[in-house]
Amino acid sequence: MASTVSRRGFLGAAGAAVAAGGAAQAQEAGAAEAKDRPIKIVAVACSPRRGKTTAQGLQICLEAAREAGPNIETELVELAGLAIPIFDPAAPVPADFEKVAAVLRDPKVRGIIIGTPVYFGSMSSLCKAFLDHCMALRKAGFALSGKVAGVLAVGGARNGGQELAIEGVQAALMCQEMVIVGDGRPTAHTGATLVNPGTDDISGDEFGVQTAKNLGRHVAEVALRLA
Ligand SMILES: Cc1cc2nc3c(=O)[nH]c(=O)nc-3n(C[C@H](O)[C@H](O)[C@H](O)COP(=O)(O)O)c2cc1C
Repeated sequence: MASTVSRRGFLGAAGAAVAAGGAAQAQEAGAAEAKDRPIKIVAVACSPRRGKTTAQGLQICLEAAREAGPNIETELVELAGLAIPIFDPAAPVPADFEKVAAVLRDPKVRGIIIGTPVYFGSMSSLCKAFLDHCMALRKAGFALSGKVAGVLAVGGARNGGQELAIEGVQAALMCQEMVIVGDGRPTAHTGATLVNPGTDDISGDEFGVQTAKNLGRHVAEVALRLA
């Protein structure tokens, strides 16, 4: 089909193309700039055992997160030893929770990775208590809204309930308007799923370690894209 293009129409189209090219260039420059912007990724270990497998898995996530860009700061917060009791809506917010909340609500924190041991096919009671206390952040204007969230779970068995535990945590984080992501490619499922063979050393769990690396990298990459 022949088409007739008027001079005005042609110039208009050419102008639009130049403008589109400029917009694309600006977008590219913006993306490059965003990659260099300092952001922070925080991991929260919800095991009552300090430094054990949940914390080890999260350290792997954070190492991979740091490799996703030049200005990515990370911090591991361990809930072990902190006084975070079962949530009671009538009780005051515990001081130890306030301290953790202050770290998480920092605007520089663009990604949060929650790690939990699997306890009877679900998250640990400490993890549930922590997530329930996050009601205070929801009430404070959805302080976690828009931050990227990923979840890691360590069990004593392969298929010990890691995915169930992860989904439970994700459900709570969705109530905070967080942006939930899974472990990135090539594993790309619900999150990091690790196995503790009973030695409290997860380093031999090749697949699990890979999911932890992919989760940390993916959380950081999405956080950079949204920053
Ligand atoms: C009360 C309890 C229940 C557990 N239930 C499960 C389970 O259902 N599935 C599983 O794979 N592992 C289960 N485990 C094993 C832990 O998930 C595993 O040892 C994990 O590595 C503990 O994390 P941590 O080293 O960070 O404390 C359970 C452990 C405890 C103490």
